[in-house]
Amino acid sequence: MPLLGVNIDHVATVRQARRTNEPDPVHAAVLAELGGADSITVHLREDRRHIQDRDVRLVKEICRVRLNLEMAVSDEITKIALSVRPDQVTLVPERREEVTTEGGLDVITHFQRIRQCIDQLQGAGILASLFIDPDVIQIEKARELGVEAVELHTGAYAEAKTPEQVEIEFDKLREAGQFAIAQGLKLNVGHGLTYRNVRRVAEIQSVHELNIGHSIVSQAILVGFERAVREMKQLVTL
Ligand code: PXP
Repeated sequence: MPLLGVNIDHVATVRQARRTNEPDPVHAAVLAELGGADSITVHLREDRRHIQDRDVRLVKEICRVRLNLEMAVSDEITKIALSVRPDQVTLVPERREEVTTEGGLDVITHFQRIRQCIDQLQGAGILASLFIDPDVIQIEKARELGVEAVELHTGAYAEAKTPEQVEIEFDKLREAGQFAIAQGLKLNVGHGLTYRNVRRVAEIQSVHELNIGHSIVSQAILVGFERAVREMKQLVTL
């Protein structure tokens, strides 16, 4: 049965919109754990647009489920990872202008830098995963690097506009997933998964973990909105 990793970055996005202390992503991590999350994911970006250093430290200290730290191949963030020691690091590409992680990591172009980074992380006992497109050549390179897992980018499937395109992207994902498994890699998937499109991805054979963030945070705002207004109304009209 596949596991669910919950990405809490966008709880921090709401907090950072006001540079205040609510909502605290650490509280969200605890609630995610109570809701059955098998792991918590945070992406500590170099520009610190959502998750902050203290969030990573506190989630690691407080949560009992695994912590998966997403990060760019960066000396600064690697130092933080070596100090916090998450259970797993997922290396992702990062560009300052992007709204979110737009494509997979190019393992071929950045092979040597990635190797240096994962050598340090694995040396400290941290599992290494690479966020890559569902592409056989990228998966082969990932295996060559000796990582424990890959996370296949589900964005092309999630964003496909026509039913035909959805099928094409889903087949690519499934075939790449089976190739990754055949290479002895643990298969994680994520990006753009929603309550509508997640089911068939969860049914892909041997998927280890699905990492989902934006859709869960969006749903939480809506399912919690009415109650939140009721509570405020009660205070105002006392
Ligand atoms: N996996 C990776 C590597 C990501 O970068 C992200 C987005 O931060 C996700 C999963 C989660 O994507 P979403 O927020 O669209 O569910």
